[in-house]
Amino acid sequence: MSINPERYLKSLHDLRQFGASGIGKGVIRPAYSDTDIAARKWLADQMREAGLTPHFDPVGNLFGLADGPSILLGSHSDSQPEGGWLDGALGVMAALEVARSADVPVSVVSFQDEEGRFGVTTGSAIWSGNLSLEQAEGLKDHAGVPFAQARACLGDLAGEFVDPAQFSGYIEMHIEQGPTLDAEGEQIGVVTEIVGIRDMKITFDGQQNHAGTTPMHLRRDAFQALSAFNTELNDRFRNVVTPRTVWTIGHVSLHPNASSIVPGRVTFSMQWRDGDGDRLNRMEKIVRATASDIASKKAIEVGFGPLLGLEPVAMDMKLQAALVSAAEKVAPGKWRKMPSGALHDATNVAELMPVAMLFVPSIGGISHAFEEDTDEADLVAGLHVLSGAVNSLS
Ligand code: GLV
Ligand code: MN
Ligand code: MN
Ligand code: MN
Repeated sequence: MSINPERYLKSLHDLRQFGASGIGKGVIRPAYSDTDIAARKWLADQMREAGLTPHFDPVGNLFGLADGPSILLGSHSDSQPEGGWLDGALGVMAALEVARSADVPVSVVSFQDEEGRFGVTTGSAIWSGNLSLEQAEGLKDHAGVPFAQARACLGDLAGEFVDPAQFSGYIEMHIEQGPTLDAEGEQIGVVTEIVGIRDMKITFDGQQNHAGTTPMHLRRDAFQALSAFNTELNDRFRNVVTPRTVWTIGHVSLHPNASSIVPGRVTFSMQWRDGDGDRLNRMEKIVRATASDIASKKAIEVGFGPLLGLEPVAMDMKLQAALVSAAEKVAPGKWRKMPSGALHDATNVAELMPVAMLFVPSIGGISHAFEEDTDEADLVAGLHVLSGAVNSLS
C-alpha cells in the first residue's frame, strides 16, 4: 500500500473526537480517563486493520506489533488536562500510516501518561526501567488518586510487558511545541538531544486561622510562605541558570482555599529543566535549601515529595542522519537540527535502543493549550520525512 496523507489526516481528526474540548481543536484526554481508554481501544482497532497485533502492557502502553523484528515508531495519545490535538497524537497516527505503507516491518506504540498525571512520562519510564513499577504504585495524581487504582481500569486488557529486543530502534515524530521552526519558516526539526528534568511536590504546613482576627505578625500563612519561596528561589537561581534553563510552579493546591481563612497548608509542584544534568542537581540543592530556609523563617513545616527525574539524552547519530537525508529531500533548505526543551517518551526508550526524533512547526509556538495547531502542509511534510527515513534504513 502506498503512503496516503489524506488517510493520515483523517485519522488524526478521528482521534481528536475522543475528548474534544469544544474549544478550537483542543482535547481533554488525560491518562486513564474514560476518553483515553476509549481512544486506545479505537487505536487498537486501527492497528489491527493495519495488519499489526495490538497489545496492552500492564500500565496501558499500547503496542501494534509487526511479526518478527521491526523498527518502532510512535509517541503518546494521552493529553494534558487542557491539551492540543497534536501533542503525542501526531506521532502515533504518523507511525500508523508509515506502518501501513513502509517497505520494512514497522511496529507502532502509544505510550501511557506521557503528560505526567502521575509521574514524568510514566508509561515509557516504567517500560524502560527508568521508573520501577513498585515506585510508580506509590505515586498519586493532584487529586490524590493512586497510580495503582488508575491503571486498574485496564482490567483484562492488560498483558505482559513487551520485549524490547524485537525492535531495532525508535523514531518519534512530534510537534515542536516552541516558536523556532514557525518563526524561521522551516518545516522540519531533526532533534539532537532532549533536555533533562526534575519534578517534585513541596508542602508548606502552617496554621489555619481566622482571616479577620489573626494579627499579621502572628500568622503562619502557607500562601505567604509559597510567595516568599518563589521570590527567593528566582533570586538564588540567578547565578546557576543559563538562558535555556526553565523552572515552573504549575500546580498549586491551597488549603482550605477560602477568602476568610488564613491558609494552613499549600502543596505545589516544583519542576525544572536543563540540558545539563549537573546543573539540575545543583538546582535541586537550591530548591531544598530555599524551602527549608523560608519554612524556618516563617515558623512553618516543609515536606518534600519524591523527586522524579530524567537525564538529558542525545539522539542516535545514524537515525539522525537518516532523518536529515529525508528532510533535505522533502523540504530542501527548510529544516534544521535542534534540541528539544519538551520531554518525550524517546528519552526513556533511549535506555533500550537507538532513538531519534523529528519536529514539525507549532503555529505561534503554542502547545499545552487548546489553541495548539500546525499547518496541514507541515503535518504532511513530517509524514514524508518519517516515511523516507524508515524506508532508507531497510
Ligand atoms: C510533557 O509534555 C512535557 O514536556 O512537559
Ligand atoms: Mn507530547
Ligand atoms: Mn505534552
Ligand atoms: Mn511532552
